[in-house]
Amino acid sequence: MDADVFTLFPSWFDWFRGQRHVANVLASGTTLDCVNPRDYTTLSGRQVDDTPFGGGAGMVLRVDVVEAALRARYGRDPLELREDRRVLALTPGGRLLDDALIDELACEPALTLLSGRYEGFDQRIVDHFASDELSIGRYVLAGGELPAMVVCDAVLRKLPGVLGDERSAVEESFSPALQGGPEYPHYTRPAEYRGWRVPDVLLSGHHARIRAWRREQSRARAEGGPLP
Ligand SMILES: C[S@@+](CC[C@H](N)C(=O)[O-])C[C@H]1O[C@@H](n2cnc3c(N)ncnc32)[C@H](O)[C@@H]1O
Repeated sequence: MDADVFTLFPSWFDWFRGQRHVANVLASGTTLDCVNPRDYTTLSGRQVDDTPFGGGAGMVLRVDVVEAALRARYGRDPLELREDRRVLALTPGGRLLDDALIDELACEPALTLLSGRYEGFDQRIVDHFASDELSIGRYVLAGGELPAMVVCDAVLRKLPGVLGDERSAVEESFSPALQGGPEYPHYTRPAEYRGWRVPDVLLSGHHARIRAWRREQSRARAEGGPLP
């Protein structure tokens, strides 16, 4: 997969790229590049935003600047780009990110993520250049950098070879293997701590019973809490 993040703060991603699971997937041929729209503005003072028509607080990212950055990166009219490449505009009000959407994105050969700042995007960026509008939750962050990292983290860990044990991504919270429910509880040594015992079934070595117990725990959590 080739992922590009359009951001005014590309250095934020230096840390992200260095994290082990991300570094692993980048070493296996996936790319994660940043494009700074500020490098493509022709406005004086490297301006990328402007005051909103109609008044109000904050600054709005300009459509002409974002178009110039997209054109420079892909060598084509960004209006056509979204026909064969997912271009995700990160907005608080967009489609909520969930495991099914992450699975969908992980099958894409290429992704473009547009990170807003300040008051957000000129709506024409979203309407004409983006294929999707995507939110990581119903709250507002200062910029799209953390949302872009959330999307990339969740997508990249679904790619083959990223996790030490491929099974980790198959049977985990919200996966089809658990019918979309939360994962069952895990325990490790010591088997007893301050009188808190690990459920006997997990120490039984009886794999079928363990599997059944885990499914039941997941189902119970989905319905509103762990079984007693
Ligand atoms: C301060 S926010 C703009 C908020 C916008 N004025 C609003 O009320 O919806 C700046 C940028 O951060 C990003 N952002 C903030 N919260 C987000 C969220 N929950 N999901 C996705 N992106 C978010 C978006 O790219 C947004 O353009």
